[in-house]
Amino acid sequence: MILKVFFYAIVLYLLVIVYCHLKYPELRWNWENISTDKILFPSTFIWGTATAAHQVEGNCVNNWSEFEKGSKDDGQPNIKDNQQSGIACDHWNRYPEDIKLIKELGVSHYRFSVEWSKIQPAQDTFNQDALDHYSRMIDVLLENDITPVLTLHHFTHPLWFDKLGAFEKEENISIFISFCEKVFHEYSHKVEYWCTINEPAVVATQGYFSGMFPPGKKDSQLSAEVLKNLLDAHVQVYHSLKKMENGPKIKIGLVKNINQFEPWRRWHILDWIMSKAVNHFFNSSTIDYLRTGIFKIRIPGLAWIYHENPNAVHSMDYFGLNYYSHNHLKFQLSLKEPFSMEFRDEDIMTDMPYTIYGEGLYRAIQSVSALDVPIMITENGIADAEDSRRELYIKRYLYAVSKAIKDGYDVIGYFYWSLMDNFEWAFGYDMKFGLFSVDFETQERSLRDGSKAYICIVKNEN
Ligand code: FCB
Repeated sequence: MILKVFFYAIVLYLLVIVYCHLKYPELRWNWENISTDKILFPSTFIWGTATAAHQVEGNCVNNWSEFEKGSKDDGQPNIKDNQQSGIACDHWNRYPEDIKLIKELGVSHYRFSVEWSKIQPAQDTFNQDALDHYSRMIDVLLENDITPVLTLHHFTHPLWFDKLGAFEKEENISIFISFCEKVFHEYSHKVEYWCTINEPAVVATQGYFSGMFPPGKKDSQLSAEVLKNLLDAHVQVYHSLKKMENGPKIKIGLVKNINQFEPWRRWHILDWIMSKAVNHFFNSSTIDYLRTGIFKIRIPGLAWIYHENPNAVHSMDYFGLNYYSHNHLKFQLSLKEPFSMEFRDEDIMTDMPYTIYGEGLYRAIQSVSALDVPIMITENGIADAEDSRRELYIKRYLYAVSKAIKDGYDVIGYFYWSLMDNFEWAFGYDMKFGLFSVDFETQERSLRDGSKAYICIVKNEN
């Protein structure tokens, strides 16, 4: 009898593993047989580059600048080596010269974010100077034939909003909506593309699960609730802006980072369970919510939430896809850290704990195409201080985008992250994502050699 049960258990185990293995393949292309030298795009394709206010502007006083001063329970600083964003790239003052750099790239679009804490320094005060500042910046972009793409929330918010509990509380969503309406009222006559919230799942998981982002909490149930509130905030912003003047003709999207979590050992059921659970939390809960109006995370012992919002369906004119890489998870017997992240010897690493995996961008496009709206790649890029892998990265990832278009996916644009080196959140200034390097002593910007591959593809001179 015991032998029989054991036998059936083994058979079942094998069937599940074979099923998972076949159903969820890890796409790998043979890059040796692929030519990435001549990659073609439709003439209407949107080319751009991206930044975010806190990372480039300087002198921000918000939840991040506060977090930069602190440390974790174990005494480690929140930001690598205690770095602080400070004046960053001084983009606040140097944007006219930075717009010349954007021109140099040959791209037609610039994605940036407005800093909420500068525009609304207190709950009942809008700062006209800050509003005028962004208005001028938008004008200079337009004078230079660069189309602005404006992000309303890119990881930061004012301290007063933080004190109210930020997106931990559903009732605070309306405060964010008022801010968005104000900004939309100011610029909707001259900004055609809007992004509501940048990477809700990153805000929720890094801020409330890993504790790497502010507020540095480690509470998985709260993390799921924050994710739900951020997504609801997106939905409400979308519908309220659409009702405003210019709303119907303006394009509004959510920006979501896709990062595939894969089992490290494809024959190990616990690696599969781990990676499925993390994928569900990070990726599919959001996609399913936008597709069906139902947000649910049901992971026993971690997070349990069910929420319906029919307005979530049709809450985007386009999907903003950020993609960098995938991760392999290996189950380990620890309640505190139930998995580790693993890398293969043959993986080409970037300076971040990410590998170069162009196929993943193709897969990400496939998975978000279920939403049936045009896809804009709102971020993709490499941290590469030595500039030894940037060209390879650009060519592989853009090959993946061109293949997706050829295969019928509706990808309308691509924004390289980032225009220039900047404050890379918990990693501080160590990560060099810029097409242009920045000397933070002199604020001098210089085009990196590896970035020329991007310019060639944009200008169709590759
Ligand atoms: C994304 C963020 C962006 C930048 C890149 C490297 O998750 O949206 O601000 O930090 O990662």
